[in-house]
Amino acid sequence: MEKELVQRMIDLAVKQMDFSYVPYSHFHVGAALLAQDGKLYGGCNIENAAYGPTNCAERTAFFKAVSEGERRFAAICIVGGKEGVLTEYAAPCGVCRQVMMEFCDPDTFQIILATSREQYEIFTLGELLPMGFGPDNLA
Ligand code: THU
Repeated sequence: MEKELVQRMIDLAVKQMDFSYVPYSHFHVGAALLAQDGKLYGGCNIENAAYGPTNCAERTAFFKAVSEGERRFAAICIVGGKEGVLTEYAAPCGVCRQVMMEFCDPDTFQIILATSREQYEIFTLGELLPMGFGPDNLA
């Protein structure tokens, strides 16, 4: 991926952390999801007093996009940290990896983990979810 696009995604993901609703963990997560048509969708984590209904930033971004008719995705950028301070990569949880598996090709979908505009690493979904179970298994 071109560095300029990656940095645009990092910028959006970082901005999304301002919207994180995290009164319980204080752990802000922001995501920027890139559709294959070039459109970007932001997402933040949204917690809940009952804990279980909490929605991760990645799933917020996916559900926003899918609910607007998007089905084809190229990449997602994820950032996160306590009080919104980025010290380590915020890798996607297992549930979010599985949601990605539903809509994305594990061999090509890119997951960008970043702590700044300069410090990032890119993985494929297949690297983070080896032997994932997806729609093809039910075909
Ligand atoms: N969280 C995300 O938003 N994405 C992940 O993939 C991991 C966890 C959120 C959920 C919760 O609001 C907070 O981080 C602490 O778990």
